[in-house]
Amino acid sequence: MTDQTYTPMTGKTVIITGAARGLGREYALQLGRRGASVVLADLNDCAESEALLTAEGIACMSVKVDVADENSTKAMAAAAVERFGRIDVLVNNAALWADLKNTPFTDIDPGLWDRCMAVNVKGVWNCSKAVFAAMREAGGGSIINIASLAATYGMPYALHYTASKAAVIGITRGLAREVGRHWIRVNSVAPSLVLTEATSQFFDDKLDKATDAIKAGQSLKGNLTPQDVVGAVLFLAGEDSRFVTGQTLMVDGGTTLL
Ligand SMILES: NC(=O)c1ccc[n+]([C@@H]2O[C@H](COP(=O)([O-])OP(=O)(O)OC[C@H]3O[C@@H](n4cnc5c(N)ncnc54)[C@H](O)[C@@H]3O)[C@@H](O)[C@H]2O)c1
Repeated sequence: MTDQTYTPMTGKTVIITGAARGLGREYALQLGRRGASVVLADLNDCAESEALLTAEGIACMSVKVDVADENSTKAMAAAAVERFGRIDVLVNNAALWADLKNTPFTDIDPGLWDRCMAVNVKGVWNCSKAVFAAMREAGGGSIINIASLAATYGMPYALHYTASKAAVIGITRGLAREVGRHWIRVNSVAPSLVLTEATSQFFDDKLDKATDAIKAGQSLKGNLTPQDVVGAVLFLAGEDSRFVTGQTLMVDGGTTLL
């Protein structure tokens, strides 16, 4: 993939939640390389991500946000508008994943179940609400919700996570119908298991077993890296997908064939 593959994002402002590390950092870097101004939003410190982008001359800022807290997401959107004047793209990437651990459904802690729903589901709603006015004012926008293969495949030992990502696909469809009149597009990207720090933390000593099992079900026999997922986000962020909304783009090596 070359940098010329997608329409430039020059003059656009993108917010990426969960940008302190992992996939969120990769989306930030690649959208920034295409000319977007980038808001790195996370509960954790985004200094490392910010340093990476800044070193490449990408206009960016870090915002501390808890996506589960409506006021915090409003402050995130306000900071983006204050600094860059507009919001064109929101990547709802923040989620509880690493902390959930591989757990039988009978043993899931009810508090962790609730927090998972608050971050992974309510967080998408909160952030979408927070950017809505700015996107409408900009004449449109693109909201990209990061779902997961877990939702369509039915991931075992992660019922809270699986349920939350299925809800993300539902939000994508409902919201796409509601905001299309403002030319705001809403789509999901659903990756299979991606080799990130969080994935290692989730599976711990079962990582090899999990990657082997997932690979066996794929048409393309390989493991996903963050660089394999980013193309789908770039496509949905920009003008190349201007008539695409309400969709879930599976990036799973051909596991789910829709
Ligand atoms: N890695 C995979 O295998 C995989 C597969 C499919 C989907 N996904 C999804 O991709 C996204 C990123 O995954 P990753 O592997 O990079 O995980 P990650 O844990 O590295 O990234 C998640 C980020 O979200 C942040 N975050 C958590 N709670 C937050 C909150 N309340 N408010 C703001 N930020 C918060 C974390 O600090 C972290 O930086 C997640 O939505 C995940 O569910 C991952």
